[in-house]
Amino acid sequence: MSDSSIRFLLMLGLIGIVSGELSSTFYLTKCPTALLTIKAAVISAVNKEPRMGASLLRLHFHDCFVQASEKTAFPNVNSLRGFDVIDKIKSLVEFLCPGVVSCADIVAVAARDSVVALGGPSWSVQLGRRDSTTASLNIANSDLPGPTLDLNSLITSFSNKGFTSQELVALSGAHTIGKARCKLFRTRIFNESNIDSSFAKSLQGNCPSTGGDDNLSPLDVTTPNTFDNAYFKNLQSNKGLFHSDQELFNGGSTDSQVNTYSTNFATFRTDFANAMIKMGNLNPLTGSNGQIRTDCKKIN
Ligand code: HEM
Ligand SMILES: *[C@@H]1O[C@H](CO)[C@@H](O)[C@H](O)[C@H]1NC(C)=O
Repeated sequence: MSDSSIRFLLMLGLIGIVSGELSSTFYLTKCPTALLTIKAAVISAVNKEPRMGASLLRLHFHDCFVQASEKTAFPNVNSLRGFDVIDKIKSLVEFLCPGVVSCADIVAVAARDSVVALGGPSWSVQLGRRDSTTASLNIANSDLPGPTLDLNSLITSFSNKGFTSQELVALSGAHTIGKARCKLFRTRIFNESNIDSSFAKSLQGNCPSTGGDDNLSPLDVTTPNTFDNAYFKNLQSNKGLFHSDQELFNGGSTDSQVNTYSTNFATFRTDFANAMIKMGNLNPLTGSNGQIRTDCKKIN
């Protein structure tokens, strides 16, 4: 390599460190096999159990929103599904490149690869995040939105993180995959009026008015294991599972965007991918902040 190209590479490295920015080529020289290793593990996990892809996507959402507010990654690790897969990937990647790839980056790439494996869009994941050095077990004060929020509160919750209401709707399309527990939508299926009555009835079979709190139902009743735009079509026919889901199509300001996505999968794909890139850039730890965890469940 010539002197000038070495100088050029050093300069790129310095820019990265000085500005604290993420870059899609962060591991290109530091751990060239990292991304393929993550993709292979995600594909194998999703082939075995499609819902695992949903859990990995949700994990990334948690990490971005919680980390952005508290600099605390994975605070409630034990209750977060998908962490086994992350642990497995982490040990593979540690074997290949010890101490190089952060848990936060593994989760970000695994989320993207999950979406792709289930039929959704791809995007270039910005890398170089570092892991937090705090591991609070207190999730109560995190900024995660809850499933009983109404439209205004959802818009506020996302706008507190710098997202527009358009991005809220696009990101909510993640509920085209995965499942939720009965106790989180019980009130909706028994007491709300903007719900399709046969849909509500069929859910009540697996989610009675008392008991069965942890019984699961798909967030997208039509195609629970495919990343498509059925979630938005469901909202149009009052088949949103959470109160918060149905709020996006309940006579308010976001109805028209739900209509657009329900007829235009390509637009949803593009908007979702762009919003995911933005989500991944929420106030990450970079440069000399934070650490590269050895075990994703705890600080070094
Ligand atoms: C708009 C506000 C949102 C609310 C109120 C919300 C709430 C929830 C809740 C309460 C669950 C079910 C948890 C359980 O039963 O334990 C869930 C599941 C899920 N959420 Fe969200 N979420 C929101 C936005 C998002 C975003 C932005 C993403 C990702 C980009 C996402 C991805 C998922 C996925 C994939 C699942 C299924 C997980 C699985 O099957 O294991 N959600 N969400
Ligand atoms: C439905 O509403 C009634 C009356 O407010 C209440 O007593 C009941 O607990 C509610 N049921 C559910 C499942 O939330």
